[in-house]
Amino acid sequence: MEKTALIYEGKAKKVWSTPDETLCIVDYKDDATAFNGLKKGTIKGKGAINNRVSNFMMRLLAEQGVPTHFVEELSDRETLVKKVEIVPLEVIIRNISAGSFAKNYGVKEGIVFEEPTIEFSYKNDDLGDPLINSYHAIALGLATKEEIEQIKAMAFKTNDVMKAFFKGLGIDLVDFKLEFGKTADGSIVLADEISPDTCRFWDSETHEKLDKDRFRRDLGNVEGAYEEMLRRIMGE
Ligand code: TMP
Ligand code: ASP
Repeated sequence: MEKTALIYEGKAKKVWSTPDETLCIVDYKDDATAFNGLKKGTIKGKGAINNRVSNFMMRLLAEQGVPTHFVEELSDRETLVKKVEIVPLEVIIRNISAGSFAKNYGVKEGIVFEEPTIEFSYKNDDLGDPLINSYHAIALGLATKEEIEQIKAMAFKTNDVMKAFFKGLGIDLVDFKLEFGKTADGSIVLADEISPDTCRFWDSETHEKLDKDRFRRDLGNVEGAYEEMLRRIMGE
């Protein structure tokens, strides 16, 4: 399948149309941003790592009954996916306090929750992706009530699968962000990516951060953390 036209360029990926109007090609970049694009940089090799990591996770989730956009890995950085209309919500699941949760509620990072939490942000760069509740999302017409219920169930199922998988690799899955899309026939599938850009991964023993927080917080060894996650996931 070849690329026909560039239909979207985001901070970390490009999306191309293909001769099949139901399919797109995602092309992962090494570019990294944080804080709504205020901080910019490059993480060498990130595009190829995120492509492989995300496809691995999407395959695992599909096997466990979570429908995804994944079709086929085409190259190092390119993947064929189902064309979807992205639901403009960032769906965030948390197992351990960190990041904006710790900041917003004035608690330390590292509190292990009894139950995972879920929250939504309205995907809108001009507004800075504000937190939004499900009633607001429905009122704004971002999704229907039924779609929200389906998204919540799929997000918690994704957490169950991922948490158990990463525990086996000696990694605590702290939190992560998901995006969902609607296919031409109206069904909701997991879309976007699952990678060290979109998850917080802490080594279970040393609590070392193995994700994009190394870039956001200038912790050094950013490339090393991405490579370590790829190595653990692929067993290489
Ligand atoms: P937060 O603690 O900054 O709200 O982030 C929660 C999780 O969501 C964390 O794993 C990083 C991920 N995330 C993204 O993937 N994209 C974003 O734009 C933001 C703000 C967070
Ligand atoms: N990618 C997001 C941005 O550029 C934020 C993040 O991942 O921290 O704003």
